[in-house]
Amino acid sequence: MKVFVVLSVLIAFTAAASLTPAELDLAEAFDYEALFSNDEQRKLVFDCILGKAECGDYQKMAEISRKVLESKCADCNASQKAKYEIVLKTIQTKYEPFYNELLKNVAAKKE
Ligand SMILES: *[C@@H]1O[C@H](CO)[C@@H](O)[C@H](O)[C@H]1NC(C)=O
Repeated sequence: MKVFVVLSVLIAFTAAASLTPAELDLAEAFDYEALFSNDEQRKLVFDCILGKAECGDYQKMAEISRKVLESKCADCNASQKAKYEIVLKTIQTKYEPFYNELLKNVAAKKE
């Protein structure tokens, strides 16, 4: 329980930090379409972003994606913002259960 609290605080703290240009570069270059089209990988990353599973190789990518989502891409430039909106739209239309859980999850972590 104590560990969980510390972890939550840590996650909240990390989430509050803004994205570095290098992180935004990674997010912009990352092929989300390819990831989403792989059922196994998609499930892994979705669970990881929701804090329900180990992230494995996707740790860094999941952290960045989460930060982008939480900040609503506030630090993004025009092309990064365009990509963010496409990815968000894809999640919203094709993976609605995850999208809904994500919104709740992101909101909860901010309190
Ligand atoms: C946004 O930033 C990225 C990475 O620095 C860059 O490649 C891209 O051209 C920029 N886009 C715009 C519209 O400025």
